[in-house]
Amino acid sequence: AFPTKVKIVEVGPRDGLQNEKETISAEVKIELVDRLTDAGFINIEAASFVSPKWVPQMATSTEVMAGITRKAGVIYSALTPNMKGFEGALAAKADEVVIFGAASEAFSQKNINCSIAESIERFRDVAQAAKQHNIRLRGSISCSFGCPYQGEVSPESVADVVRRLKDLGCDEIDIADTIGVGTPRHVQKVMERAAKEFPLAQLSGHFHDTYGQALANIYAAMEVGVSTFHSSVAGLGGCPYAKGATGNVSTEDVLYMMNGLGVETGIDLDKVVDAGQFISKHLGRKAVSRAGNAIAAK
Ligand code: HMG
Ligand code: MG
Repeated sequence: AFPTKVKIVEVGPRDGLQNEKETISAEVKIELVDRLTDAGFINIEAASFVSPKWVPQMATSTEVMAGITRKAGVIYSALTPNMKGFEGALAAKADEVVIFGAASEAFSQKNINCSIAESIERFRDVAQAAKQHNIRLRGSISCSFGCPYQGEVSPESVADVVRRLKDLGCDEIDIADTIGVGTPRHVQKVMERAAKEFPLAQLSGHFHDTYGQALANIYAAMEVGVSTFHSSVAGLGGCPYAKGATGNVSTEDVLYMMNGLGVETGIDLDKVVDAGQFISKHLGRKAVSRAGNAIAAK
C-alpha cells in the first residue's frame, strides 16, 4: 500500500560531503549534523570509517562523532567496510554500522577493492561484531540500476546481494542508484524483486539525482510500498568511485513532495532549508535543491 508515513535517512554529512575536494573542518560538519538533528531526522548518516587514502574527506569521522550533540532516539550511522572500520565506528559510538557492497562486480572492485563474494566474507566479521555489541546493521547495494563500469545490472543480481546481506543479519537494506540512471518502472521492478527476498518495510531507496529521475523514482517506489528513503540536504554529494555521479536527491525536494502528498515525515522543512543554506554558503556555492532555493528566496 502507498505509505502514509516515511522514514527519511539524511545522508548529506556522509554521502554528501565525502566527495568534496577542499577539506571541511570537523566543526562545520558537526554544526551541520546538529542542525539536522534539530530539524527532526531520526536517522543521520554522519560518518564513514574507510581508508583515508581512499576518501580523505572522511578522515575526521572520529572527531565529528565525538563533537555532535546527540538526541535520544536518533540513530547516527557510519560506514564500515571492514573490521578496522567497525572498530572505529564502535569507539565513536555509532548507533548503526553500514556494510556497503554492490550488485556489479566491476564497481565492487573499484570502490572497495574486492569481488562481491570477498566483500560478503569481510562483512561477515563486521556483522557478527555488530550483533555482539547490539549495534544496528544496515547493508547498502551500489549500482542496483546500472554501473559506470559494466553498464546494465539485472534485478536478479540485486536480489542475489539482498539475499546475502539478509543472511548476514541486516536490519535494513538499501537499494542504491549510485549513478542515478534508474527510471520509475525499472525501480518498481527491482524493488518488487528485492521484496521477494527481504521485507519491504526494511528496504530503502537511495537515489542519486544525476539524470533528474530521483523524485519520480521515489514516488514509483512508494507505489510498490517502500517507505524508507535516503536524501541529502542541499543535494550534496557524489561517489568518489563513480565518475560524474552527482548528489543524492535533495532532502528539501523530497520533503516538499511528501508534505504535498500528506505523507508524514516528522521533519521540519524550514530547518532543513536553513541547514542547506548554511552548508552551501560554507562550500561557496548555491544549494542543489529546487525547493530549498525557492523557499530560501521567499
Ligand atoms: P584495501 O587497500 O584493499 O585495504 O582497501 P587493506 O585492508 O589492504 O588496507 C590498506 C590500507 O588501508 C592499510 O593502511 C589499512 O590499515 C588501511 P596502510 O598499512 O597502507 O597504511 N585501512 C583503513 N584505514 C582506515 N579505516 C579503514 C581501513 N581499512 C583499511 N576501515 C578498503 C579496502 C575497503 C579499506 C578501501 O577500498 C576503502 O576504504 N574504500 C572505501 C571507498 C568509499 O568509501 N567509497 C565511498 C562510500 S560508498 C558510496 O558512497 C555508495 C553509497 O552511497 C551507496 C550508493 O550511492 O551507491 C553507500
Ligand atoms: Mg550514495
